[in-house]
Amino acid sequence: MGTESLAAVLEREHQEIDAGIAAFSASPGDPQPLARAIRALRRHIYLEEEFLFPLLGEAEPALRAPVFVMLREHAQIWALLDALEREPGGSAGPALCRQLASQLLHHNLKEERVLYPRADDVLSPAAAGRLRAFLGTGELPEGWVCVKARPVTRDAGR
Ligand SMILES: [Fe+2]
Ligand SMILES: [Fe+2]
Repeated sequence: MGTESLAAVLEREHQEIDAGIAAFSASPGDPQPLARAIRALRRHIYLEEEFLFPLLGEAEPALRAPVFVMLREHAQIWALLDALEREPGGSAGPALCRQLASQLLHHNLKEERVLYPRADDVLSPAAAGRLRAFLGTGELPEGWVCVKARPVTRDAGR
């Protein structure tokens, strides 16, 4: 039995998150699927920004521009998640969910076409091992915020 590719595992996370958002949209009375999807999506963004994208950009300069676009989109997605969490079951929930689903559709497709296919080739066995371990059991560190949603400080080099 071969090991599943990183690309396949990451795509499955996209699908699971999409399914949670769709379940909430179909039945907004139950907030649990959405709460789970929001947690999973924040963790997914964390692992992309901390474990995957920097290594892709280092290994292949041509990937730095698409990585930059993904980081900017993460900040937009992050703001939508914050808005959804402020409004649990609120009247804006369904509209925010539609916005999130449409944003993810485009974002995920770009990652799946351009970035994920390079992950298995570019990551060292050690880096791939760290990413796989995180995918299995890792948790989003308390208070972590995606790179481009952080307040700009004077000495921020980004
Ligand atoms: Fe992403
Ligand atoms: Fe992703």
